[in-house]
Amino acid sequence: MRFSLGLFILGFGSFCQAQLSQEPFWTWVPDKSAPPVFQARRERLRSLMPAGGIGVFFTNPEQARNNDVDFAFRPDSNFLYLTGFEEPDSAVIVAKDGITVDGKLVHEVLFCNNRDAGAETWTGYRFGPDRAQSAMGYELAVANDRFKAVLDGITPFSPRLQVLSPDTLPGRNRYALSNMITAFQAWAATNKDKLELTSRTGKTLGAMRFVKDSEEIRLMKKACEISALSHVEVMKSCKPTSTEFELSALMEYGFKKHGCEYIGYPNIVGSGGNSCVLHYEKNERTAKNGDLVLMDCAGEYHGYSSDVTRTFPVNGKYTTEQRAIYDLVYEAQEAGIQACKSGSSFNTPHQVAAKILGDGLIKLGIIKTAGELGRYFMHGTSHSIGLDVHDLMTSDSTLRPGVMLTVEPGIYIKEGSPCDKKWWNIGVRIEDDILVTEKGPVNMSVAAPRTSKDVEKLMASKKK
Ligand code: GLY
Ligand code: MN
Ligand code: MN
Repeated sequence: MRFSLGLFILGFGSFCQAQLSQEPFWTWVPDKSAPPVFQARRERLRSLMPAGGIGVFFTNPEQARNNDVDFAFRPDSNFLYLTGFEEPDSAVIVAKDGITVDGKLVHEVLFCNNRDAGAETWTGYRFGPDRAQSAMGYELAVANDRFKAVLDGITPFSPRLQVLSPDTLPGRNRYALSNMITAFQAWAATNKDKLELTSRTGKTLGAMRFVKDSEEIRLMKKACEISALSHVEVMKSCKPTSTEFELSALMEYGFKKHGCEYIGYPNIVGSGGNSCVLHYEKNERTAKNGDLVLMDCAGEYHGYSSDVTRTFPVNGKYTTEQRAIYDLVYEAQEAGIQACKSGSSFNTPHQVAAKILGDGLIKLGIIKTAGELGRYFMHGTSHSIGLDVHDLMTSDSTLRPGVMLTVEPGIYIKEGSPCDKKWWNIGVRIEDDILVTEKGPVNMSVAAPRTSKDVEKLMASKKK
């Protein structure tokens, strides 16, 4: 929540002549990546940039939800990946060959809010440029109101400028960030003959983020483990008439109880016919005995999102038809996971899974030809995963050690589909997060049972 309106209404102005807080102002969460990790990434980015290249990255703005209430702030993923800096209104310039600021050649400049006693009284500490520079190891950090002057001092001499997030426009009243973006756009227009603006990152930032480094693997592992554990807990506590939002709340409780700060994306909890809506987020129905429940939910741990789906019978026992579809999707998923081999194309798991699903639906009499599969399986099997649940890709998406991707085949048979109605309202997706290694695929979310037998066994265990 923004502090200014509350300040006015409550008439607390006179109490607000706060002093700037002194040390200790900041504690590094021990499990977060340490500043040298981000330093090394900025260095690596510079090494991948063309001569004279400059990268300008903005974080996200704070976004109004209603009146003076904001959505929870989340930094832009590219910015977070390079800086580890979690305050809004910030930007960073990374310069391959350096730029001159205050007469000194520097290779990176962080722009952030100045300290502000009033703001800090309401919403907590700010680093301010000096402390950001010393505590987080940026070569230079300055106030964000200097962004325009610093940028205007850069004369592009070799045409490569990479800009990844200026299309994230600020919400209302977000002056610091919008001023920087406006300044950037004006500077780019003035210098348009001398530079090439590009948001193509396939060979630089995309290539870096596509292959996870050891710190990212560590954090992703945690996000996946917590997410899988929460799925187990929710399956165990599910009752035949649970509401979708109750299951969603339990899931979120599990994420936070085990250490995730946020959900990685809005929970998808679809019972009965809602299991056939790919991204059903309303979560408002009460399940009925005999329904399937599809839960596509995962936590975000220190910025890294898992992505896990399980589909289970609300009463603990799959019907014959539910089991037939479930086992088919499982078979496709298992083959897709095994196909996540170093050297294979990114699309191989999808091809493998789709073939099994097509053949299986023909065998069950639901379709006649493989060409009809798209009616019941209308999405891809895999996407890259990391800081974003649908993570940045690179120009060469060949699987290799360090790549993380989902394998998530599904079958969704809506009411009214052109098949025997005994299949209607069955929606099944099974989704896990796979790390490609030299020794083969590693399922990071394996702790949540996947076979129909294991799911039933888990759900039966709650009754004891
Ligand atoms: N949870 C979104 C997806 O599976 O892609
Ligand atoms: Mn997914
Ligand atoms: Mn998902």
